[in-house]
Amino acid sequence: MTPRLGDRSLFPSLAATSYLAHAAISPLSAPVKARVDALTADYAARGMEAFTTWLAARGRLRGELAALVGASAEDVGLVQSTTPGIVWLAFGMPWRAGDRVILFEGEFPANVTPWQRAAETFGLELVFVPIAPFFESPEAGLAALERELSRGARLVAVSAVRFQDGLRMPTRAMGALAHRYGAELFVDAIQALGATPFDVEEVDYAATGGHKWLMGLEGAGFVYVARRCVEALVPRLAGWLGHEDALSFLFDGPGHLRTDRPLRAAADVVEQGALSGASFAALQASVELLASIGVDDIFAHVQRWHDAVEGELEAMGFRSRRARFVEGRSASLCFVPPDGVSLASLHRALLARGVVASTPDGHLRLAPHWPNALDEVPLVVDAIAAAR
Ligand SMILES: Cc1ncc(COP(=O)(O)O)c(C=O)c1O
Repeated sequence: MTPRLGDRSLFPSLAATSYLAHAAISPLSAPVKARVDALTADYAARGMEAFTTWLAARGRLRGELAALVGASAEDVGLVQSTTPGIVWLAFGMPWRAGDRVILFEGEFPANVTPWQRAAETFGLELVFVPIAPFFESPEAGLAALERELSRGARLVAVSAVRFQDGLRMPTRAMGALAHRYGAELFVDAIQALGATPFDVEEVDYAATGGHKWLMGLEGAGFVYVARRCVEALVPRLAGWLGHEDALSFLFDGPGHLRTDRPLRAAADVVEQGALSGASFAALQASVELLASIGVDDIFAHVQRWHDAVEGELEAMGFRSRRARFVEGRSASLCFVPPDGVSLASLHRALLARGVVASTPDGHLRLAPHWPNALDEVPLVVDAIAAAR
């Protein structure tokens, strides 16, 4: 069955009338579920022999993931989710005591905690840039960032899209600016990849999980490291699968079990031990499906959905956080509810009407993806009006 924008036939088991929580966790489409079923059936039948088949598929997945962000397969390493990727990088940077790391107000904690731990361990200084200028315009935001960069910094760490207000950050311009001041840019890409255009131009490092807009299962994600940054990394958190020819002692006869093999000088040195085969099989099926539709077309479809719903909610007193400039828009449309409206009860009331949305950090977040039809909008508006 060919996927078509606004058609959810590939989600026959989906219970919700309108599923709007792709920025949290996506439901599995039939092709993704079928790929996972194929893997578990193969493991049930062949055990260890199945491993090599799926390992080879995972090898091809690197290239598919890289294509998604405009990189090459060699620049990608597989991790379970965003967090282990960020932790690895936070402990793998060639820090010097006193290095400054620039973060942003209201970041998802996954992109704060590892830098705090690295700051504690390596004697770094963390600074938080306010987000309000980025809502004014990309220029005002970049000026605020430049003020901090001009005081000296080693790294800027930001989300491509913010989880609670949906603001899409100007990562390309931020990277170019950071480079002008001798700093590097890390991007947490999980709220963008799959539905909001993002590429690694001017980005030095990125990490993501695959269970949100990429529509896979939890337990599979990846890290991107720009080729120019790989050499300088210090693999402090390496595991047995990070060595060159790490598997040869298991498959190539005697004489290969050595403890002096160098760690790989590539992004895949982040791979430490066994990964969840099922989660990577899901991610692969899902990325193939998304690539067949095209992220630009998905984004345009989702913007039409947002256009249809935004004014209706504003008329009910919800304050839209959608950027007034189009470059700041993402696939998440977020609202501050009117005074007196409890998000917890709104969430419950919407669920009772078959609308699954999420409510991060004081916002109602509507996060439709390619299968959401425009004719769901009146149902969602009615459900919100009634729930309110
Ligand atoms: C910006 C952002 N980063 C990271 C995460 C999650 O990190 P992980 O994939 O490690 O659970 C989320 C949401 O869960 C998020 O919104």
